[in-house]
Amino acid sequence: MHLPAFKLERYFAQYEFNVKYVLCASDCESIAIKDLLAFEPDAAERFHQHWLGYTQSQGSPSLQQEICNLYENVEPNQVLVHSGAEEAIFLFMHAVLDASDHVIVHWPCYQSLFEVARSIGCQVTLWQAREENGWSLDPDELQQYLRPNTKAVIVNTPHNPTGYLMAPDVFQEIIRFCRDQGILLFSDEVYRESEYRRQDRLPAACDLGAHTVSLGVMSKTYGLAGLRIGWIATQNTEIYDRMAALKDYTTICNSAPSEFLAELALRHREKLAARNLKIIADNLDLLDPFFARHADRFAWQRPRAGSIGFPQLIGENVADFCKDLVENTGVLLLPGSLYEDPGNHFRIGFGRKNFPDGLALLDDFLRKSK
Ligand SMILES: Cc1ncc(COP(=O)(O)O)c(C=O)c1O
Repeated sequence: MHLPAFKLERYFAQYEFNVKYVLCASDCESIAIKDLLAFEPDAAERFHQHWLGYTQSQGSPSLQQEICNLYENVEPNQVLVHSGAEEAIFLFMHAVLDASDHVIVHWPCYQSLFEVARSIGCQVTLWQAREENGWSLDPDELQQYLRPNTKAVIVNTPHNPTGYLMAPDVFQEIIRFCRDQGILLFSDEVYRESEYRRQDRLPAACDLGAHTVSLGVMSKTYGLAGLRIGWIATQNTEIYDRMAALKDYTTICNSAPSEFLAELALRHREKLAARNLKIIADNLDLLDPFFARHADRFAWQRPRAGSIGFPQLIGENVADFCKDLVENTGVLLLPGSLYEDPGNHFRIGFGRKNFPDGLALLDDFLRKSK
């Protein structure tokens, strides 16, 4: 296994905790433990009493049950809790893929979604999202990518970095295609429940057949990345068992305090999501006129879900622009080159409360650099 550097993480390592405005954060606004505990009258006391021994490897049964409430057709024992979604991606790929396999991956994407497969030695076909069609995927392309050794299709919706929310018929077509071809579908749904309109929410892939795996996490919609709690849900016992066995070699089990807090948070997830959707809506109210004012410098596709988008910078190199911006203003944007994107895009994140101040500085910088 040879894993190259995770470009986005290395970039964040350089800047994330020493700039004033992370205007490209992928997650939503977090909260303090104290405020989370205040959601239930006796939660603080129960948290203080919570046992700090090893936890059950698959996740505590009560947390599995709480996660299960996100889905329609999975049972608690079909949920495998991980240390973040990142661990689950790593374990899924290692549990399922061999060097002789071929995988088809939604592109551009969060690096581990293709890099782990590549590091195993798999052939990877990048399934290009079409900017001209609102960053959508064309399911008709799947047939032409198919090979006799195709093992899995990997999609991510709502999508990092474009904010693309797949149309229901496209999603169903992918589910059907994978089922008919005997291929696994790994569906990264870490931004699920962040749709701006409830009626746009897709069903979870794990509810639609045993050839699918859904990936979820506390980090994005609910803003609780510091818990490092993610999970997969699947009706596929074989994949579940193989991932569970591999987990003995990574984290063995999850953090006990994090499990407690994740369970508490999920009982109130609608409140957490609503709060973050309000922050997103308020920030988009500023971002829309911002992009209208600077239409000569950016091409912008407004997302329908999530807290990130992928605008294109017009007329200058995006990596240089982001470098100048952060060095002069302390505002961090993420150049698309970190996603190996050739299109001069950058990631902008609008799920944080201090977004308006960072955006004002960006506005100022643009005016001065005209
Ligand atoms: C699409 C996607 N999948 C998975 C992850 C990993 O989530 P976590 O960092 O919470 O493990 C991220 C994080 O940015 C992501 O954007």
